[in-house]
Amino acid sequence: MRGPQLRRLPALARLHEWLVQGNLYGSIVRQEAVSMVPPLFLDVQPHQVVLDMCAAPGSKTSQLLEALHTSSSDGGVPGALPPGCVIANDADLARCNMLTHQLKRSASPALVVINHDAARLPAPRNVASGQQLRFDRVLADVPCTGDGTLRKAPDLWRKWHVHMGIGIHNLQVSIARRGAALLQTGGRMVYSTCSMNPLEDEAVVAALLRASEGALRLVDTTGQLPELRRSPGMSTWLVMDKSGVRELDAGLVGSARTLARSMFPPSSEEADAMHLYRCMRFLPHHGDTGGFFVAVIEKVSDWPPPPAHTAAHPSSEPKADAGAAEDGDGEDEPAGGGDVQQPTPQEQHRPDGAGSSRQRTAQRTAIDPVNAVTDDWILNTLQSFYGFGPNFPLRGTLYMRMGDFDTLDGAAATGAQAPKPKRLYAVSPGAASLLASDEKRRLKVMSAGVKLFEKGHDAVSKATCPYRITQEGLHWVLPHLGKQLARVNVNQLARLVRRRVLFFETPRNGGDSAGAAGAPMMDADSITALLALTQGCVVLVPLLGSSSEAEADDLAVVAWKGAISVAVMVNKQESPILQARLDKFLDPGELDRQKAEAAAHKSKGTQQHVADEPVLAAD
Ligand SMILES: C[S@@+](CC[C@H](N)C(=O)[O-])C[C@H]1O[C@@H](n2cnc3c(N)ncnc32)[C@H](O)[C@@H]1O
Repeated sequence: MRGPQLRRLPALARLHEWLVQGNLYGSIVRQEAVSMVPPLFLDVQPHQVVLDMCAAPGSKTSQLLEALHTSSSDGGVPGALPPGCVIANDADLARCNMLTHQLKRSASPALVVINHDAARLPAPRNVASGQQLRFDRVLADVPCTGDGTLRKAPDLWRKWHVHMGIGIHNLQVSIARRGAALLQTGGRMVYSTCSMNPLEDEAVVAALLRASEGALRLVDTTGQLPELRRSPGMSTWLVMDKSGVRELDAGLVGSARTLARSMFPPSSEEADAMHLYRCMRFLPHHGDTGGFFVAVIEKVSDWPPPPAHTAAHPSSEPKADAGAAEDGDGEDEPAGGGDVQQPTPQEQHRPDGAGSSRQRTAQRTAIDPVNAVTDDWILNTLQSFYGFGPNFPLRGTLYMRMGDFDTLDGAAATGAQAPKPKRLYAVSPGAASLLASDEKRRLKVMSAGVKLFEKGHDAVSKATCPYRITQEGLHWVLPHLGKQLARVNVNQLARLVRRRVLFFETPRNGGDSAGAAGAPMMDADSITALLALTQGCVVLVPLLGSSSEAEADDLAVVAWKGAISVAVMVNKQESPILQARLDKFLDPGELDRQKAEAAAHKSKGTQQHVADEPVLAAD
């Protein structure tokens, strides 16, 4: 059932609301079942460096991240960063932004989003060692004609034509070759499409295997996930264009620039030697899903050879191959540039709209690089204010975007030298080493890691530590916090989230508008817990009686302690979700009281602003 249908049916309204909330909170990602198959065959381990070449909108990336996090070798130690990382790439800038937005909810320090033409993806190279970075796992879920989605995309019935695969085959070969070139020897790559056209599937795999001269092989997946019904790959097929079935004809191939030799089936001997039957075709009748093609490829020896030994591509090979630079560094230009091919008519027909928006890539703007935070003042201030434990080394974990700087108001008071980065991100060791090895700054990094700290506005900057913890990054920081943490009554925390500001000292101008004049709104125990903390960012964890510590930690809230009040620093989208989760722990009487109090407060107008308190804007 699709979103609009869910919205329309009153009987499913609650299910729809639950899905929307789960999606907002990041606990639910919706995706067609068969489209989840390719990452399952990639066998991602937590220490691995994984490349998702064509990642937007990010459904498979979230699976890869989940594999990286859940199979973690840290044994589930809270707050331990996974050693590896996932690099999610997409050529389309708008779709890349959508991907960043979608995956923000996964709040993973192991995610780096980049924006390149996958066929020319730059390989970060360590200048000192000269070593190019290679990936342990590569997913090439390439753009395709999408005929496997015919069941759910009825408009495709009118647009589809048998020749559509011809226009996209060359791009698919180029992406697959670049992916294989960037794969570590011994590494695994999955090539997949949601098209059943052999020109986009087995023909691409055959072209890749042929080019690798034995360095790549198709993996026999018979024993893997046997419960997923599938058909073997095809070994022969017909090539048809608008004029009908074509034979492999030297005059037609290459010079005509429409048909390439690689589109034609291999000889039966070559097909057998390649084991093309090891490719997997998931057809609609197998599992009552859409169709999907998946090939699992292993790199058994070094490939490609060093540049000096590379022969020129024969003219009969796809034109796009020439630009693939599979043996080189990829894109030649600096990170801000990028030569992205114009969409073919077939790509414009893609059901997911991928091709049609590629034109927007032309609006590329230079993106500032991402650097490690080395400013001692920042690192020392954060360490002394929050008292992080030894398992959370700030140096090497925190990154910032160059250009995202701000002058620090109150610098004289704090001893800081302006300007300072506005946002600080945590990145996993794998992501950090990727960023560090990109010494030539060739990667166009759209986002890296999870935002952990954010600098407050001017008034807040005067505090001892101007950086507050972000709600999205709290999960990673909380287990390591030595200071600024208070455990408070769950009723008080729910009320704080509902009201956004509570007082722990009598306001000088007469008190909160909903309480008795001058009466502090918090209970005595919460006030005691708060008074023990330094003014500035605080983390409040609910006391949940018999519930586990992990459950309580999961409901922790970032707040700001002012001179006489405390304010939540949770953004307006997240607030209702957090509120609903906290409310589950309130007894019905307390919940009714709080709701009535909030309603009365609302009807009296907005919260009174207390003169000596900064107005705090969360996120
Ligand atoms: C099939 S979709 C990917 C779906 C995605 N893997 C997922 O599961 O959510 C193909 C993607 O390839 C991107 N794309 C098209 N041409 C590309 C190229 N040359 N390099 C990188 N990405 C490209 C499109 O923007 C589109 O987002």
